[in-house]
Amino acid sequence: MMLVSTLKRCFVRAFLAGLSFFLLLCVSGCSFKTKQSSLDPKGPIALAQYDLFMVTVWVTLFIFVTVGGALLWVVWRFRQRPDDDDDHMPNQSHGNPLVEVGLIVASILLLVIIAVPTLRVLVYTFELPEDEGSKLGQWYQGPLTEEDAETILTVNVMGYQWWWAFEYPQLGITTANELVIPEGKVVKLNLRSADVIHSFWLPKIAGKVDLIPGRANWMWIKADEPGHYYGQCAEFCGSAHAYMLFRSDVLSHRDFEAWVEYQKKDAPEALEVSVAAGERLFAEKTCIQCHTIRGNQYAMGIKGPDLTHVASRKSLAAGIMDNRGVDGRIDRLKQRENLFEWIKNSQHIKPGNLMYHDDAGLKTVPLSDDDVHKIVAYLQTLN
Ligand code: CUA
Repeated sequence: MMLVSTLKRCFVRAFLAGLSFFLLLCVSGCSFKTKQSSLDPKGPIALAQYDLFMVTVWVTLFIFVTVGGALLWVVWRFRQRPDDDDDHMPNQSHGNPLVEVGLIVASILLLVIIAVPTLRVLVYTFELPEDEGSKLGQWYQGPLTEEDAETILTVNVMGYQWWWAFEYPQLGITTANELVIPEGKVVKLNLRSADVIHSFWLPKIAGKVDLIPGRANWMWIKADEPGHYYGQCAEFCGSAHAYMLFRSDVLSHRDFEAWVEYQKKDAPEALEVSVAAGERLFAEKTCIQCHTIRGNQYAMGIKGPDLTHVASRKSLAAGIMDNRGVDGRIDRLKQRENLFEWIKNSQHIKPGNLMYHDDAGLKTVPLSDDDVHKIVAYLQTLN
């Protein structure tokens, strides 16, 4: 009887321990799909931060094992024995100078071991590298002013509730929610906010620097290899903070130059009848108040993302909706469905977004399915 109850207790304990471990894993956000892992660095800043993290891990692990080991040893060594006299207190010791000074010195030493690489990485992060070949004029073939040619590729990053604008002042390009950069080149990011505090975090490449209203923050990044990387706002900035994602496409040199050439062009004229209908609706339904489309003389709003080449983006709604097919390229059908869903049900996808608010903050009337289809047909020509 007693054996059964003991077994039952053991089983319950094991179950609870397993459950706690599982819940702990859930809370920690661990995932096998490591799209946003700081532990998989793909650039020098992320690598420096990873190395620093590992120094801290080893030092704290050493402290944990040493202190835990000493505690276990003491518990075992001074355990109660059968012949102990319960009324008699064993000898107690106080104030051993050697132990006390030793512990203080050891603590200082461990802190120094962490502090030195920390300061080194901080300085490294905030010192724009002057390495050969990083100046824009040394690798970019397109037309540049003399001043631009002498500087590193610069991107002005602007954080909005809840999306990102990426402006390339030297190249005359503005895009949204997708940071396109060339592989192996230093890129300087000027980080600004239009409203509240946001934080730029591209885990595999670099992180994190805040975008603070009224303050000019910056950072530099470099990506080692081409790829599609996942980023995220890392500072709570309102109800849709969790949906303030972004993507970064790291391209080879040649692809980056081709991308720049393409993005510099204005949007094509709407020639087909069905497309022209969508273009007209885009103006009539007040989309033009918030969005710019270069080449469309009415669309000059600046509150929302620049849509000049919206159909060339691999994601939609600040990275929430993926426009790519299995081969990693844009799937036009998927993109059409996403655009429709986003324009029709944006509040459902990103609660609190300002899509149907005009300049005065007043709610405008949502569109009919037919109107949305026409606007989507127009937007899909903006590639
Ligand atoms: Cu922007 Cu959180």
